[in-house]
Amino acid sequence: MPPRLSVIGTGYLGATHAACMAELGFEVIGLDVDPAKIELLRTGRVPFYEPGLDEVLLRNIESGRLRFTTAHQEVGEFAEVHFICVGTPQAAGAQKADMSQVFGSVESLIPHLRPGALVVGKSTVPVGTAAEIEAILAKTAPADVELAWNPEFLREGFAVDDTLHPDRLVVGVRSPGAEQRMREVYATIIGEGVPFLVTDFPTAELVKVAANSFLATKISFINAMAEVCEVAGADVTKLAEAIGYDPRIGSRFLAAGLGFGGGCLPKDIRAFMARAGELGAEDAVAFLREVDQINLRRRSHTVDLAREVLGGSFRGHHITVLGASFKPDSDDVRDSPSLDVAVAMSNLGADVVVHDPKGLVNAERVYPHMTYQQDLPAALAGAELVVLGTEWREYRELDPEAVGLLVANRAVIDARNALDSQAWKNAGWSYRALGRPTV
Ligand code: UDX
Repeated sequence: MPPRLSVIGTGYLGATHAACMAELGFEVIGLDVDPAKIELLRTGRVPFYEPGLDEVLLRNIESGRLRFTTAHQEVGEFAEVHFICVGTPQAAGAQKADMSQVFGSVESLIPHLRPGALVVGKSTVPVGTAAEIEAILAKTAPADVELAWNPEFLREGFAVDDTLHPDRLVVGVRSPGAEQRMREVYATIIGEGVPFLVTDFPTAELVKVAANSFLATKISFINAMAEVCEVAGADVTKLAEAIGYDPRIGSRFLAAGLGFGGGCLPKDIRAFMARAGELGAEDAVAFLREVDQINLRRRSHTVDLAREVLGGSFRGHHITVLGASFKPDSDDVRDSPSLDVAVAMSNLGADVVVHDPKGLVNAERVYPHMTYQQDLPAALAGAELVVLGTEWREYRELDPEAVGLLVANRAVIDARNALDSQAWKNAGWSYRALGRPTV
């Protein structure tokens, strides 16, 4: 009999993991402490935008393999393997992670665990957390309850595919028995030839933050080159293309622009710096402070560029910002570079209208004072400056001639280097971008 699974937490990670494990044939129960989320999920609706997830969710609810609850007791009685998928956001007023959901969910689960259950951590945590949880389990859980650590690498927008067909599986374990059970859970994926790496707890925890730190560093590297290109009159997109042909460098994650945002990379590098500091290794990751600074500087540089294009002041000028989500194919506005720029320009006196195909509901929740427009032509009407902040496909495919008929002034800042600059210039637009020559 395959083990029955539970998934604790139904955010991005949890909802995707629950649906995908059911898709792999397991019986799965998902838990969240938020009854509103559970109500939505029970009817097969995903509480956020993730392409393809709603179909997988609905299919598995209808087949009876997947259900949702708010009761820890139900989860403890039902499942033998419990995945902890709760959030670890940046703590208020600090760089480190807020770990209350991780410890809270484990403590709520413990009284209901069956003897011999396996608890599997998937949340992104400071190194050393697994050892702490193991000590709590040893003291308060029923006999033979074990822990494994299994970081998740899914990207928003590709969450289903990344979960069912990951680049690699990493599991930190303390016993051959725990390893065997993890192999059973991932048998289908392992059978497809996906590398399965077995490590100790701290290595498994560190793999996740090391991977995200590397990705953030790669983006900030090319954005640092963009800063140099701007003062040297060079073109960072050509530079990236040229260095990307070197297979040791590679062309992915080398797109210069407004930089990284979202619920992972920014807070993960900050939490990593905080944790390394606690461990006395702050010098080893001091470069991440630069990575963070370079990233944030792209936002202020874009605001400066917009002011320059508008002749030195924002006051009373009508700007349309294309994009509120932190990246295309997502409605997630957490730490969104584009929305940050829109809010900054509005605070400086500009009359800003924000458009996004999916992210406006979330944007309005965070910044209710901003002006949002769901209809793209209406959002562009009368603009004196258009700022492209998130490279949604529908923006990349805009016809510069048609857009030119809507705006008051043909001026665009392509803050993601996503538009065909020549086509926009040919249509009479003043085209500015990050890291590229002005003419
Ligand atoms: C990231 C990691 O990729 C994933 O493995 C991890 O599990 C969670 O964090 P995600 O936050 O979904 O995933 O977004 P990602 O696709 O990595 O993009 C992050 C940000 O970097 C976005 O704001 C994107 O616009 C930006 N980015 C990405 C660039 O600015 N340039 C690039 O070349 C690539």
